[in-house]
Amino acid sequence: MVASPRRLRRITRVLVTGGAGFIGSNFVHRTVGTRPEVEVTVLDAMTYAANPANLAGLQDHGVTVVEGSVCDVDLVDRLIRELASSADRGEAAVVHFAAESHNDNALRDPLRFVHTNTEGTAVLAEACVRHGVHLHHVSTDEVFGDLPLRGSGLPGAEDRFTVDSPYRPSSVYSASKASADHLVRAFVRSHGLSATISNCSNNYGPRQHPEKFLPRQITGLIEGESPRVYGSGENVRDWIHVDDHNDAVWAVLDRGVSGGTYLIGADGERSNVDCVRALNVLFGRPADDFVRVTDRPGHDLRYAVDPSSVRELGWTPRYTDFPEGLAATVRWYRDHRGWWETSRKDAESAYRDREEVLG
Ligand code: NAD
Ligand code: DAU
Repeated sequence: MVASPRRLRRITRVLVTGGAGFIGSNFVHRTVGTRPEVEVTVLDAMTYAANPANLAGLQDHGVTVVEGSVCDVDLVDRLIRELASSADRGEAAVVHFAAESHNDNALRDPLRFVHTNTEGTAVLAEACVRHGVHLHHVSTDEVFGDLPLRGSGLPGAEDRFTVDSPYRPSSVYSASKASADHLVRAFVRSHGLSATISNCSNNYGPRQHPEKFLPRQITGLIEGESPRVYGSGENVRDWIHVDDHNDAVWAVLDRGVSGGTYLIGADGERSNVDCVRALNVLFGRPADDFVRVTDRPGHDLRYAVDPSSVRELGWTPRYTDFPEGLAATVRWYRDHRGWWETSRKDAESAYRDREEVLG
């Protein structure tokens, strides 16, 4: 995509898609807490991944919540038209988090991912062009595929993803996000859309659905169960705290060039086995007390992000001590059992139907 010269944006109104999910709701909380001048509207389809409790109390801080889909052309057009017309004190932006986000679900229902992630992004981009509104598209490092394990001696084993890495998605989830990235770039080049894209690594922190790796293990440990690791557990993810991700998104909104792509990561590479060992220690259990279960088909081996593009905007992560961030996250789940109990039961019954404990 062709990047425009850098200029500061003064954003005073945002439409946050997917704002009732994990990262989106943390973005709304952080925006309300740190930028009281910004008016926030949330558009969320309230799928299984949303939790109304994520936004509880925020209406008192002027946050408006609209239940609906990013694929609904008329609704999206109306909301972005209103956003454009009422942002006369500054600029308006759509911050697009809404997605089907879980790889395991993409294996069972791939078309839903294409519909929401790819088509939904195109619907938003088209309406943003029509009404002259900036679009920030929140994407993932998974669009670049995976890397060999460090120290394996294989080509790429010491690499990280950069803004020049080729797209090589391996799941329908990551392919649907990659398609969305391409569509945003095409709208910039051929339709004059003002847009930025960020590709972030694995997030952790409060309000993440218990279907995902860390909350699944944390809530299981609270229930007295052993962590469950897919396959060998050697797979590496590059962990970043959700607040650091969202601060980086704001850095891109403020200072990112239109047409620019920014990779967000916090130098947090860790294997899955290392993560469950750290959790076991936090729970006062033997580090190696975990079970290996059926591997994920097509399971990506290693993700690692070179964050220099976003660090050049002046952003730095605040959560640089992973065990400390993990301990705070564990405390949040201990203190919010009511938030996760039902969704954990639902997620676990689906997992237990298809997982076998490996000998
Ligand atoms: P999530 O599954 O917790 O939340 C997604 C939200 O989108 C939910 O509230 C859901 O109801 C909503 N949604 C789903 N379909 C919708 C539709 N058609 N219209 C409107 N809303 C809809 O996901 P998350 O982990 O918070 O991820 C948010 C975004 O960040 C996604 O785009 C994901 O690809 C990206 N991302 C996630 C991570 C991560 O580690 N979780 C890392 C990098 C990028
Ligand atoms: O890299 C960014 C991506 O990170 C985001 O784009 C996705 O939306 C987000 O879900 C996440 O994808 P992953 O597939 O890496 O996350 P997940 O939490 O599903 O799994 C993390 C790792 O843990 C992965 O190697 C699979 C493994 N795993 C997962 C579960 C649920 C286990 O070993 N056991 C489990 O029970």
